[in-house]
Amino acid sequence: MKESDILRIFKYLKPYFPMVILVLLATFANAIGELLLPNLMSSIIDIGVTNGDTAYIISVGIKMLIVAFLSMLAMIVSSYFSSRVAMSFSRDLRRGVFLKVQSFTPQQTEKFGTASLLTRNTDDINQVQRVAIMGLRMLIRSPIMFIGGIMMAYRMNQKLSMILLVSMPIIAISIIVIGGKGFPLFKQIQKKTDKINLIFRERLTGLRIIRAFDKEDYEEERFNVANQDYVDTAIRVNTLIVTLLPLVSIVMNLTLVGVVYFAAKLINMDMMKVGELTAFIQYISQILFSLVMFSMMFVIVPSASASASRINEVLDEPVIKHKNELDTPKVANVHLEFNDVCFRYPGAENPAITGLSFTASAGDRVSIIGGTGSGKSTILKLIEGFYDVESGSIKYNGINIEDLDEEVFRDEIGFAPQRAFLFSGTIAENIRFGRDYITDEDVLEALKIAQGYDFVMSLDDGLKSHVAQGGNNFSGGQKQRLAIARAVAIKPKIYMFDDSFSALDYKTDRALRTALSDVTKDAITLIVAQRVATVVDSDKIIVLDEGHVAGIGTHEELMKSCDVYLDIVESQGYEKEVIA
Ligand SMILES: Nc1ncnc2c1ncn2[C@@H]1O[C@H](COP(=O)(O)OP(=O)(O)OP(=O)(O)O)[C@@H](O)[C@H]1O
Ligand SMILES: [Mg+2]
Repeated sequence: MKESDILRIFKYLKPYFPMVILVLLATFANAIGELLLPNLMSSIIDIGVTNGDTAYIISVGIKMLIVAFLSMLAMIVSSYFSSRVAMSFSRDLRRGVFLKVQSFTPQQTEKFGTASLLTRNTDDINQVQRVAIMGLRMLIRSPIMFIGGIMMAYRMNQKLSMILLVSMPIIAISIIVIGGKGFPLFKQIQKKTDKINLIFRERLTGLRIIRAFDKEDYEEERFNVANQDYVDTAIRVNTLIVTLLPLVSIVMNLTLVGVVYFAAKLINMDMMKVGELTAFIQYISQILFSLVMFSMMFVIVPSASASASRINEVLDEPVIKHKNELDTPKVANVHLEFNDVCFRYPGAENPAITGLSFTASAGDRVSIIGGTGSGKSTILKLIEGFYDVESGSIKYNGINIEDLDEEVFRDEIGFAPQRAFLFSGTIAENIRFGRDYITDEDVLEALKIAQGYDFVMSLDDGLKSHVAQGGNNFSGGQKQRLAIARAVAIKPKIYMFDDSFSALDYKTDRALRTALSDVTKDAITLIVAQRVATVVDSDKIIVLDEGHVAGIGTHEELMKSCDVYLDIVESQGYEKEVIA
C-alpha cells in the first residue's frame, strides 16, 4: 500500500475546491465557538455568581447565546456542504471507474473479474466517500480542538493541566498500536467482499443450471464458507475497534477523576475557583474527545486507503489502443484474409488456433464447424480485434486489422454472440443498441430477416415490448433472433453469427439463411454452427479440430477429402437430399 493512494483519489475533489474551503472555514468557526463557551461560562460563575452581579451574568449570558448560535450555524453549513462535496466526489469517481472499465479489453476485465469490479465501483467508493465526508471536518476540527483546548486549559490552570502529560500518551500509544494491527485486516475485508459478490453473482446467473443439476446445497455451502470467512475477519476488525473505544473512555474518565481530585485540593487552598474547574473539565473533555475522533480516522482512513488502492488499480489500467489508427479503406469489394494465423490465449499452454489461412470476399458465406472448444468463437474474437494474433496476419481490405481504427472497424461488423445478450429496455432499444441512426424501418427489416418479425408483432406492445434483464422473458430461440436482428440492423460489411442458429428449428434456420443471402450480397458472412444442415450451402466450410484446420472447402469437397467432416456428418445422420 502506498500512502499516496488516498491522496491521489482526493484529486477528484478538485472541482469542488471552493466548497471545500467553505467547509473548512465553517468547521474552523464552529470549533472556535465551542472553545470560547466554557471560558465565558467560568466568568459567569466566578465573577457574576460569586459577586451576585446580575447585570454581568446577563451580559455574558447574551454573549454566550450569540457565540452558541453562530457556532451552530457554522456546524450546519459545514455538515451540509461536506456531504454535498462527498457525494459529488463519489459520483465523479464512479463515473471515472465506469468509463475506464468500459475501455477495458477482455484480458483487462478477466484480470479483475466482474465481481471485483462491481465491489470496487460500489463498496470501495463508499468507503472513500465516508472518509471524504468525515475527513473534511475532522481533519481541521480535531487539531483545533486539541491545540486550542490545551491552550485554554493551560491558561485556566497550569498545574492542573500537567495531568494531560500522563493521559495523552496512553491514548496516543493505544491508538497507534491498534491502528497498525487493523490495517492489514481492512484490505482482507474488501477481498472477502469480492468473494461473496462473486459467488452471489454466479448463483444468480447460473440459477437455472444450479436448479437443473440440483446443486443448490453445494452452492449454499460455498456461499456459507465465504460468508463465514468474511464474518470472521469482520469480527477481528471490530474487536480491535471495540477494544480501542472503551480503553480511551477509561483513560478519559480516570483523567477527569484526577482533575476533580486535585482541583478540590487547589480550591481548598484558594488557588483555583469553582468556575475555572467547570471550564477546565470541559476543556479536558474536548481535548481527549478530539483525540478519540482523531483515532476514528485511524480506523476509517486505513480501510478507505485499502479501498482507494483498489480503485486506483482500476483507474491505473492503461487504455490499450492499437499503434496505428488507419481508416478502414472503402473499397468496392470487401475482402477478408487470414494468413497462417496462430493464436494462444494469454497464459494458455496450447494455441487455440494454429495455421489458419482462408480468404472471403463480398457475397461469400464462410461457415465454421467443429467440436466444442475447437476454436470457432476464437476466430470471430480475433476478427473483432479483442486479441492480437501470435503469428500470421488478418487483413481486411488489404490492411492488417491491428492497424485499423478499432471503433471505425467494429462499426463494419454485425456480430451475434454465442450467448445472446439482451438488456432491460424495449425490443427496439435492444436492436438499436445505442446506434440512434438506425431507423424504425431498418429495425423492422432486420427483424424480418432474423425471422423475429411475426413473434414481435404478436406481442401487445410490438417493438415497444419490455425486455427483462438478460432477456429472461423470452425463449432461447426468440433471444437469438433478437440478437441476430441487432447484428443485421446496421447493415454491416461483415456479418458474424456465433452459433446463433442453434436454438432455431430447421425450418426457421433455413428461412433465415435465405433471407440473409438477399442482403449480404456485398458483404462477408461468417457463420459458426454445430449443425451440418446450417453449413451445407456455404461457399466455404472451415472444419476445426482442437484448434487445427482439418479441412476447408465446400460440402461436396469436404465429403470426399475430410475425415473429421465426414465424422460430423455421419454422427448427425445428415443426408443432404432429405432435409434440403
Ligand atoms: N478467454 C479465454 N481464455 C483462455 N482460454 C480460452 C478463452 N476462451 C476460450 N478459451 C479456450 O480456447 C479454446 C477454444 O475456445 P472457443 O471458445 O473458440 O471454442 P468454440 O469452438 O467456440 O467452442 P463452443 O462450440 O463450445 O462454443 C478452448 O480450449 C477454450 O478453453
Ligand atoms: Mg463458441
